[in-house]
Amino acid sequence: MDRRQFLFASLAAAASPLAMRGAWAADTYADAFHQATARDRWLRAYGGIDHDVAAPSLRIEGRIPAGLRGTLYRNGPALFERSGIRYHHLFDGDGMVQAFRFTENGVSHEGRFVQTPKFLAEQAQQRFLQSGFGTALPGLPFATGGGLDRANVANTNVVVHARRLMALWEGGSAFELDPVTLATRGPVTWRPDLKGMPFSAHPKIEPDGTMWNVGAIPDSLAIYRIAPDGTLAQAEVLKVPGLVMNHDFAVSRDHLVFVLPDTRLDLDKLRAGRAFLEALAFPPDAPMKLLVVDKADLRQQRTFELPPGYLFHFGNAWNDGAGTLRFDYVHHESAGVLMDGLPGLMRGDAASMPPRSAVSMQVAVDLASGRVRTAAMKDVVEFPRVDPRVVGQRNRHLWLSTGMGKGLGTLMMNAVLRYDVESGKRDAFRYEPEALVEEHVFVADRASTREGAGWLVGCAYDVAYGRTSLNVFDALRLSAGPIARAWLPYGLPPGFHGNFEAA
Ligand SMILES: [Fe+2]
Repeated sequence: MDRRQFLFASLAAAASPLAMRGAWAADTYADAFHQATARDRWLRAYGGIDHDVAAPSLRIEGRIPAGLRGTLYRNGPALFERSGIRYHHLFDGDGMVQAFRFTENGVSHEGRFVQTPKFLAEQAQQRFLQSGFGTALPGLPFATGGGLDRANVANTNVVVHARRLMALWEGGSAFELDPVTLATRGPVTWRPDLKGMPFSAHPKIEPDGTMWNVGAIPDSLAIYRIAPDGTLAQAEVLKVPGLVMNHDFAVSRDHLVFVLPDTRLDLDKLRAGRAFLEALAFPPDAPMKLLVVDKADLRQQRTFELPPGYLFHFGNAWNDGAGTLRFDYVHHESAGVLMDGLPGLMRGDAASMPPRSAVSMQVAVDLASGRVRTAAMKDVVEFPRVDPRVVGQRNRHLWLSTGMGKGLGTLMMNAVLRYDVESGKRDAFRYEPEALVEEHVFVADRASTREGAGWLVGCAYDVAYGRTSLNVFDALRLSAGPIARAWLPYGLPPGFHGNFEAA
């Protein structure tokens, strides 16, 4: 039995009655969370919602630019509780895909839960039937021999490629949706032998339309290359000993770039019925591994070292022509947000959330000598984005969400930021003091080919008002403030990622 089979067998064993620990009644997350919302009212943003929403015409302040026509798709966890039981980790929430449609008549909004098998079965019975990544429910498996898709909540990103709309999750299949109605069509199988193999949540689409993606399972990394017409051009499964999971990667002209924190998985904890998250450990002083894979021959791989830390996201990567690979990622001091902050968020324990933890790291790797240089920016940030016209190529601009002010960190961001990475200049806008800012997405103005010509669009939850706004900025003049805001008649939990599809 290899390690992967052993892992799946262990996950199945974790579902046995012998592994039952505690009882449903002992679960304190829901009560603790609801009590905390009286004290820290911003937590109400994460109360969750249990039904689809629609608003045909949003109230708009300012003016939507005439060139901004199309749909902003967003995804994120939105349902957190069933029958008084609350998920123990933000990553476990069931995914709601949203569509903000920009037309001559204004802006509309729709949000629909992705109809995964897990969601459908649990909604029908109004109770949890399946443990999640960070939530071990007594006697309920995370996954068994049927694969991780049984736990798939399709909650992390949504992408349009070759006219296919797909909701994405790190550990399982993409779910295809109808781009007009957001109805779920079902899981995507790229090739029969890849059925159930993860197709993770951060694909990269190059300017020619080629989409790269990856999927990690223990000791193995699947790499997909999807042609601009949507057909599978290449898929290989690489052996990467010690790999447990992988959230994001970057592409340059020549390379695929991965940063792998030293991750330990304790199979005994899984056997004892603990959640997958609870079986993870990250040695704090271990360097991270930088894995550089040659796009032209995926067997050509090189490894380098980066400082100890943790990461979720990359901005971009490019080859400078002089043998140097350059990229940026958001460097966390530790895995504290994953391991402590997001479980703390779900039980309303604000003290468990690291106030400052992540900065943009600019990296240069001399591929001939192996020398690696890193330069950390100063702001607390997450959710880096670049102009899609320069993915894999030299980029000048990098957009991020940030926390400005005392005590604000990666779980409570209230501002958006642009770095001019060539000049080092920064351009920022700070929302209301009690705003919770999501990832903002760059949308190109097709009237121009200049990098950065376009708009930055994204949502913010207004804590005092209890509603969510969609905001549009001139992407090169964030400090001037939004040129338009569209208000939803309701508030929605801050989500993770999304993309814009031009009309
Ligand atoms: Fe992500």
